[in-house]
Amino acid sequence: MQQFYQKNDYYKVEGRKQTLKEEQLCSLLSSMSLKEKIGQLIQLSGDFFSTANLSIGPIKKLGISPEFVKLAGSTLNVVGFENIKRVQDKQMEVQPHHIPMLFMSDVIYGYKTIFPIPLGFSSSWNPDLVEKAFECAADEASASGVQVAFAPMIDVVRDARWGRVLESLGEDPFLTSIFAKSMVEGLQKNLPCKKGLVACFKHFAAYGAVEGGREYNSVDLSLSNLFQNYLPPYKAAVESGAKMAMTSLTTLNGVPSTADKWLLTDILRKKWGFNGVIISDYASIQEIIKHGFAEDNEDAAFKSLSAGVDIDMKSPVYASGLEKLITNRKLDIKKVDSAVFRVLRLKNDLGLFENPYFGASTTREKTSLLTPQKRELSRSLAEESMVLLKNENNALPLNNKEKMVLIGPYADNHALNGMWAIHSSKKDTISIHQGIKRFVADIPTEKGTDLRRDSKFLENLGFLSEQEIKNMVSSEEENRNNLMKAIKISQKADTIILALGEETYEAGEAGSKTKLELPKNQIHLIDELSKLRKKIILIIIAGRPLALENIIDKVDAILYCWFPGSEGGNAIANILFGFKNPSGRLTMSYPRVSAQEPLYYNHLSTGRPQNSSKGRFVSKYIDSPADPLYPFGYGLSYGFVNYTELKTDKYVFTKDSTINVTVKLKNNSDFDTTEVVQLYIHDKVAEVVQPVQRLIDFKKVKLKRGQELTIHFNISSSQLTFFDNRGNEKLEPGVFDIICGTNGKQLLTTTIRLK
Ligand code: BGC
Repeated sequence: MQQFYQKNDYYKVEGRKQTLKEEQLCSLLSSMSLKEKIGQLIQLSGDFFSTANLSIGPIKKLGISPEFVKLAGSTLNVVGFENIKRVQDKQMEVQPHHIPMLFMSDVIYGYKTIFPIPLGFSSSWNPDLVEKAFECAADEASASGVQVAFAPMIDVVRDARWGRVLESLGEDPFLTSIFAKSMVEGLQKNLPCKKGLVACFKHFAAYGAVEGGREYNSVDLSLSNLFQNYLPPYKAAVESGAKMAMTSLTTLNGVPSTADKWLLTDILRKKWGFNGVIISDYASIQEIIKHGFAEDNEDAAFKSLSAGVDIDMKSPVYASGLEKLITNRKLDIKKVDSAVFRVLRLKNDLGLFENPYFGASTTREKTSLLTPQKRELSRSLAEESMVLLKNENNALPLNNKEKMVLIGPYADNHALNGMWAIHSSKKDTISIHQGIKRFVADIPTEKGTDLRRDSKFLENLGFLSEQEIKNMVSSEEENRNNLMKAIKISQKADTIILALGEETYEAGEAGSKTKLELPKNQIHLIDELSKLRKKIILIIIAGRPLALENIIDKVDAILYCWFPGSEGGNAIANILFGFKNPSGRLTMSYPRVSAQEPLYYNHLSTGRPQNSSKGRFVSKYIDSPADPLYPFGYGLSYGFVNYTELKTDKYVFTKDSTINVTVKLKNNSDFDTTEVVQLYIHDKVAEVVQPVQRLIDFKKVKLKRGQELTIHFNISSSQLTFFDNRGNEKLEPGVFDIICGTNGKQLLTTTIRLK
């Protein structure tokens, strides 16, 4: 054992195959000084180790002593074999026990090969493909030295104003749970051969419910709402074996999640049996002082560690507070030991004591990044994620005999990766123009206008330099010329493909906004082009649902493409030209106007629903319908599938039996198609009022042209439970509507009764 701890010795033994045994880890722990132990609980960004700081968050001096920098046990967003080797070698050399560091990173929806944003993942309703995407992201990132991904982000969100909807799977807890499982399993699958990543699910808990959709704001939820709608995905991640969890930057019912013992210890560890490492979010331990929950660093350290947080990400609190707490006997050393042990155990599970570089090597970096197979996977997922919102008179698919032009600030733009693709490069991304050129070699292209013409707005995004903003906003004259050029080439065309949307930094962390409509200059471009009376196909690149009511009548088709990733341009072109039939279905409700937010399909019924009577006194807005422009589950394909004969094999069933549900589908079109069959319930009477509709199952099926198919679902009583106002799961006998269909609109209903 001793040789393990001799300087420059244990980690350099060639061919060591063995990981440490539990008692060896214990003995390592007991031989560590208090300072070394605390070091294991500190995470610092790359700038502390002379590499770039790629992280998102307030930039300020931390005031951490050089001694603790030396002892820090993990780092975030340091990537690349050469980099991590240099940092790892140095850190191991200077630390008394030469303990390897953990390298963690935001690999949110890809590393170098970028997939569509997670809101696009869920719109694919294809968890198997998403699992493969995460396996592939893990393969790439591990080649570059990453060991832990700060993913999956599985916060349920019901408000499109929140910028982080981009990273979410949308508004449904069941669907988010399914994807939580696929993402965790995809990331961790190849850990044994060092080609996987540890999954760190986040942000525990209910970060997606920030009031007003405003970033870092408070969260206030009834227990039934919390348990029913927000907690299930995190539980699914735990059940899928995720080895790490991250807290959230917010308060939940008045307590910062980062210091919430009930949440972290009682629910996560004790009730759900989570045994892994808990990390704070970026500086969130120190922020509990600003929340008004702790007096100073020492108090914050005491409260967060006692609540269950093991690692302090990018704050000076554990470094400055823990030592005093232990020496003054205010905190039991056992608490620190347990946290350190969990960190050491994770390092050991990854085999870092035998190979501190994990799966990284220059060879793997050369051979596993951006391979054709990975690009193909990214393309397939992008194709499946896109949602066709409108297709008047079968405007799509295009026929390459049509005379086409390509217009818009996204026409020939490589910025299709979205904000969280921090390790990728735009040059590796296929633009829409490049994609379309494969079908129409010489398509005339003009940008027509800028993405945004408001420099103040762009400055406020907080990412763009003065020079970048200057380059993005054309002068008035240039802008007029851009419009004239776009009109001129469009006049000669039959079809205008118009690519508009949000700027990269409008969505993502700290991208909350109140206006979900397209900016004025883009709307003006639509207006001017629509005067030409040509067919207009609108492509939207965005990180959230936008409010499109003011433009839908001016275009013939709308294809919603999210930030589609590295293969975006190819995927878009394949759909436009009919090589792929769009099959994406929305996983967030689309508002007509911004002020409808928050907006979600699984809301409770009011005593006076919108359409229950004529006149004033119903639950509505006086200036806009209250329902969404496009509901959850909505999306068109080329061709049309008819749903008939929704039946159950019995009406009454008991707690221990199941009900078989069938529905008939017929593809009446000339296209082979893919359909997402969605099954919802409505519990008609319950102790706590239940949502008007709640997704409990779905099937994604292929139908050849003309094909008929009978779809089967089994419903068991476990799918009919709900949570009461104390957070207890309940099953009550009674009548349930079974609702099945597509498009959130064409729905068939029958009823069953649980005895
Ligand atoms: C975000 C996390 C992210 C972390 C590290 C924070 O600002 O909330 O989601 O993982 O930064 O980059």
